[in-house]
Amino acid sequence: MDKLIITGTSRLMGEVNISGAKNSSLPIIAASILSSDKSIIENVPMLEDVFALGQILQSINAGVKIDKDNNSVFIDTSNIINMEPSYDVVRKMRASFLIMGPMLARFGEFKISLPGGCNIGTRPIDLHLKGFVALGAKVNTDHGYVEARADKLRGNKIYLDFPSVGATENIMMAAVLAEGETVIENAAAEPEVVDLSKFLNKMGAQIVGAGTDNIKIIGVKELHGTNHKLIYDRIEAGTFMTAAAITRSRIKINGINDEHLKPVIAKLQEVGTNINILDNSLIIDGNCDLKPVDIKTMPYPGFPTDMQPQMMAFFLSLMGTSMITETIFENRYMHVTEMKRLGGNIRIDGRCAVIEGGNKLTGTIVKATDLRAGAALVLCGLIAEGETVITDIYHIDRGYELIEEKFKNLGADIRRASY
Ligand code: EPZ
Repeated sequence: MDKLIITGTSRLMGEVNISGAKNSSLPIIAASILSSDKSIIENVPMLEDVFALGQILQSINAGVKIDKDNNSVFIDTSNIINMEPSYDVVRKMRASFLIMGPMLARFGEFKISLPGGCNIGTRPIDLHLKGFVALGAKVNTDHGYVEARADKLRGNKIYLDFPSVGATENIMMAAVLAEGETVIENAAAEPEVVDLSKFLNKMGAQIVGAGTDNIKIIGVKELHGTNHKLIYDRIEAGTFMTAAAITRSRIKINGINDEHLKPVIAKLQEVGTNINILDNSLIIDGNCDLKPVDIKTMPYPGFPTDMQPQMMAFFLSLMGTSMITETIFENRYMHVTEMKRLGGNIRIDGRCAVIEGGNKLTGTIVKATDLRAGAALVLCGLIAEGETVITDIYHIDRGYELIEEKFKNLGADIRRASY
């Protein structure tokens, strides 16, 4: 097991390069299943989740070659067989459920173990299954497995009770080879959904409306392979923006799309940081007169839930009271206990967290409870007096490529050790 050791307090300076979007890479690797061809995906972050999904595709006989030096993945899906992927890998990563839609579309039947919940919530899949049934599949969930079969998937109109990112992606992938037209209403509009639709359209699919709450898919007979470069990771970029804010530093962040970062840029400007947007970079200066603000997480283009723990860390450094309302996940405050161990003053009341900022933080041993909570603890470690040791950092390695190298290059005193 690895841990990160951060010695505060740090000021940051220089530049950081953002990696490709984790939450684009996973649905797009899954979507390659839809053709019996070869695809090349570029700007792929070298993350544990990407390797795990690659293993799942290899377990159903896809050829997967991960080029770590060039952040590329080569996938040959011509010889895929319809067999159940290994329970251990599926349990480890819930995003593996994203192969359900493509496998159902390609083979007309598929069985996979139910994805586990995780520390931030139960993570149900009812909306995914509602979509598959609407497309004509018979779905059966028992003994911890979900099985779906359909002689032929037929287009239909599907209303999502919640704009679920995963459900939108899974249904879109199932619908591209269905007979006729599918409309997904109240669809998720995240940039990663748009990136997936671009990949699918390059494979020969006919999808319009991605990025809005109404996506139309006209089924086609077959798809072919393609090449695609992923968008940059807006949550990694937001995490480094927050690192500049919490340490009152001025840094340059390369590899950003300011449209995708609009809610994060707006909120950090509201706090008082100075942000200068360049072509596909930005310069953020946190050494300004900053004031506490409130946050409510919402589906895109609202403030992203994946930035909530990082902003909570930042609010600990601001004199005054901030309030966070987490509307997306029912249990995304596991980081609060760990932040209190560092000296943070936070009170949880249902979905709300009230942060009394301004206390000095003091380093101690803390635990990463999930991916973004772990990133938030790194931010706390930058401003805590003394040594902060973060254990269970496999959570962080699922979503952040080379995190200690990137922070070290910005001047942080951070190192990885085993225990
Ligand atoms: C995606 O998860 C992201 N993961 C998450 O990022 C992100 O937090 C989330 O979208 C919200 O933006 C990937 O893209 C791989 P949802 P997903 O379905 O698709 C409820 C990170 O840190 N729901 O939009 O699983 C669900 O319980 C990760 O990178 C149902 O009720 O999220 C939750 O409350 C964490 N029924 C809400 O919707 C369903 O069938 C949002 O979930 C599906 C979801």
